[in-house]
Amino acid sequence: MKLLLKGGNIIDPAQNFNQIADILIENGLISQIGENLSAAGVEVFDARGLVIAPGFVDMHVHLREPGLEAKEDIASGTKAAAAGGFTTIACMPNTKPTVDQAILVSGILHRAQAEGIVNVKVIGALSKGQQGKELAEIGDMILSGAVAISDDGSSLDNNRLFKTGLEYTSMFGCPVISHAEDELLVDEGVMHEGAVSAMLGMKGRPSVAEDIAVNRDIMLAEYTNSFLHIAHVSSKGAVELIRQAKKRGVKVTAEVTPHHLTLTDEAVKTFNTATKVNPPLRSSDHVAALLEGLKDGTIDAIATDHAPHAFEEKDVEFKQAPPGFAGLETALGVVLTGLYHTGKFTLFEIVQRMSTAPASILGIEAGGLKIGMPADIVIIDTDLDWTVDSTTFYTKGKHTPFDKKILKGKAIATLVSGKFVMREGKVCI
Ligand code: NCD
Repeated sequence: MKLLLKGGNIIDPAQNFNQIADILIENGLISQIGENLSAAGVEVFDARGLVIAPGFVDMHVHLREPGLEAKEDIASGTKAAAAGGFTTIACMPNTKPTVDQAILVSGILHRAQAEGIVNVKVIGALSKGQQGKELAEIGDMILSGAVAISDDGSSLDNNRLFKTGLEYTSMFGCPVISHAEDELLVDEGVMHEGAVSAMLGMKGRPSVAEDIAVNRDIMLAEYTNSFLHIAHVSSKGAVELIRQAKKRGVKVTAEVTPHHLTLTDEAVKTFNTATKVNPPLRSSDHVAALLEGLKDGTIDAIATDHAPHAFEEKDVEFKQAPPGFAGLETALGVVLTGLYHTGKFTLFEIVQRMSTAPASILGIEAGGLKIGMPADIVIIDTDLDWTVDSTTFYTKGKHTPFDKKILKGKAIATLVSGKFVMREGKVCI
């Protein structure tokens, strides 16, 4: 089986490549990249005017399987990923039961082979049941294929356990991914603590809760010389702490979401539960610091924190609604509209942060277009104007703060191992 992608602007940060060329795919692998390629018996895809990049890697996705399939499952979540241009996603362990044992890691990987239409990687829990009392089967889970360890969804405030978890996970060359929010400080807060929360009379989650947790995480990673990754960074204090830690040589990496890069707590004034997320949408000074941190390399990657919930769960009063919303199908459009079309980031920088960097943090063979690699590819129309319509989403999570927004730029085709899984915006497998 051969496929020739002709005349696209190929961007591969892994090889520092950025030029108009052709890609020949044979038997699911990238076999040649160059100008004026041709081959006998080949399907040709005209990519003129389009961008061809390594498929996006989302290192922060809630697939909700096992146990929470009313919110999402592997089939619906991977379809949403394909629609958004993602070819590899890593799923978080806050499911029912929690993914805290090797058998659950193997189970998800097994089901993903049958049900998933993009590559699925598994992140195992740090503590049993994510209860913060004793460590999970970290070693066994990694040996069964887990690529990272995390109690995402909650902060692990027990310093002793976090220290041991870091040391143990690091022995296997994997990062601990930290959801860094001091639990006692965030308390029952439902949005960013500041002028808007005061005006709305809502209990806030102070940014200092994130700063304190990130500081603790970095201190323990530095002390134990372990790999640490900070999930969904949202405070300017956290950005500065990570920047200084990197300067000292601490093995810390970080991610930021499209929503934290483009929205502020002003969005909560609508009381729309689609704006409720943890950590919360913060004020514009925090957003500016996140953009600066992503630009200068303090923050390595963009990750969606795709956190779908059933419609009726979110269709309640703001205080009662669970935090989180769907992110896979809007991520690229939001990033291109907010970061590229405003001149803040180049396409090359965006692809580096959405494909190459997350693959490298997870230590997986993805995020590049080297000869011999699986042809996991996204084809992008950077100028396509489209209106977000959550009713047409593949994900079961129909809430998004970007609903009805007009975005510029979209993935128009996604290939996994050389096969189209999405074409012209439609999942085709
Ligand atoms: C996530 C979820 O729903 O699992 N919610 C969220 O608001 N981000 C948990 C998380 O990633 O923190």
